[in-house]
Amino acid sequence: MTSTESSVVILSCSLNPTSLSHKLAQAAQSFLRDRQVPVELVDLAEHDLPLCGGVGSFDHPSVKTLTGIIESAGAILVSSPVYNYDLNAAAKNVMELTGSGWTEKPVGFLCAAGGRSSYMSPIGFANSLMFDFRCLIIPRFVYCTKTDFTESGELGPEIATRVDQLAAAAVDLARAFAWVRANGVGDQAR
Ligand SMILES: Cc1cc2nc3c(=O)[nH]c(=O)nc-3n(C[C@H](O)[C@H](O)[C@H](O)COP(=O)(O)O)c2cc1C
Repeated sequence: MTSTESSVVILSCSLNPTSLSHKLAQAAQSFLRDRQVPVELVDLAEHDLPLCGGVGSFDHPSVKTLTGIIESAGAILVSSPVYNYDLNAAAKNVMELTGSGWTEKPVGFLCAAGGRSSYMSPIGFANSLMFDFRCLIIPRFVYCTKTDFTESGELGPEIATRVDQLAAAAVDLARAFAWVRANGVGDQAR
């Protein structure tokens, strides 16, 4: 991925090889690629990350790589399973490991759940990003269950549209943030 202010990093947090949220991540990646937006999909299933806080966890080579990828992102999309009315532990772990790389970035969520009732699940994660790192949470949110997919496992039209809208919003906000960093009055307030 070329590092530019409008680049988008998609963190796919499911470790399940038949993941639905990974399909959301891939759809967002396709949308952005088709529009020549620099995008990198990071599949946590391909990274053997340590648990945050263990001895040497922050020095692990994969953590250093991922921190660099997140630091260079203009916006971050988190695709995650819903586990116990929250994102999964892998999502929380990667956020803890890469920490300040998230600072002042737009962040959006693509979630797969077993049922319709857990749609508030990313709120705790979103709150911590706002409080810890002053992230701007994109006020669009993709939440799906198995019923949002076709029998052959493709995204249904409604959820596909929502993924596209979220991906587009991530790029727009990344560009807006880049403009503000270059032209805004923020530096005078620091
Ligand atoms: C440990 C565990 C906890 C879960 N908790 C919830 C839950 O709180 N709410 C819900 O709707 N689905 C829950 N599910 C179902 C998953 O969200 C669902 O299988 C989803 O497809 C997982 O995402 P993935 O396919 O991307 O891995 C849970 C599944 C597991 C394995």
